[in-house]
Amino acid sequence: MSDYFSLSQFDETAHAVKARIGQPPAFGLILGSGLGGLADAVERAVHIPYPELPHWPTSTVQGHSGQLVAGQLEGQPVLVMQGRAHYYEGYSMAQVGLPLRVMQRLGVHTVIITNAAGGVNPEFSPGDVMLITDHLNLIGMSGLSPLRGPNIDELGPRFPDMMHAYNPELRAAAVRVAQQAGVRLQQGVYAGLAGPNFETPADLRFLRVVGADAVGMSTVPEVIVARQGGMRVLGFSGISNKANLDGNTPTTHAEVLQAGALIVPKLEKIVRGVLAEVKR
Ligand code: HPA
Repeated sequence: MSDYFSLSQFDETAHAVKARIGQPPAFGLILGSGLGGLADAVERAVHIPYPELPHWPTSTVQGHSGQLVAGQLEGQPVLVMQGRAHYYEGYSMAQVGLPLRVMQRLGVHTVIITNAAGGVNPEFSPGDVMLITDHLNLIGMSGLSPLRGPNIDELGPRFPDMMHAYNPELRAAAVRVAQQAGVRLQQGVYAGLAGPNFETPADLRFLRVVGADAVGMSTVPEVIVARQGGMRVLGFSGISNKANLDGNTPTTHAEVLQAGALIVPKLEKIVRGVLAEVKR
């Protein structure tokens, strides 16, 4: 297992992708648990199963199909990750971050990152979409960073700023698009934990106190790599369950996948609208 990768390893993967696709992608899209259906909207699609790419972490979670889908969405060249690797699957943080490096080397300037998350904010209901305004890097505060290891200066700075991790202009575009499409769009802070267990009631009370609105097991390391690499980020959480703040309702992976069916059509409207509106 790789603790970190070299630039030539990232480029090896990028070349393998490039050899299979037509136009180089400008937008990356990462689809979380139960949200993979959004990849069906891609036109002129080329599919690349993750095991066919060198160094690429394959996805082992049910509800993640584990392939790249390259093509067009709203006339924009996109590279869609249908499924992602998580730290809890046993991958290193470097492996979790590798797909973002490959996107960077392919010329992607904007990534739209989605996940399934538990609603910590009591106003949120399963099936809601939350625009991520900021994150709490709880997995990182305990020492796990995808940037650990020798810094590759060609890719970005050693100490990257995270002030505007989630791009303000793209967020404004998402809010406009959702309003026009009549889709209810919640907004809030995503707390990234390692998982794979769901949270205890005490965990959830803590998360609420520190300012979390949603909680999940992905996204944060990807956003950190994307930002360090100078890519713009737009993030959405599909709220799949009310995290068990009452201490009585167990959370299951089945309900996470079920809620995806409600969330995908809303996300598709928002993502299409943003891609149509944002040229660069
Ligand atoms: N907690 C953490 N991750 C999740 C949840 C949750 O309640 N739901 C979906 N992903």
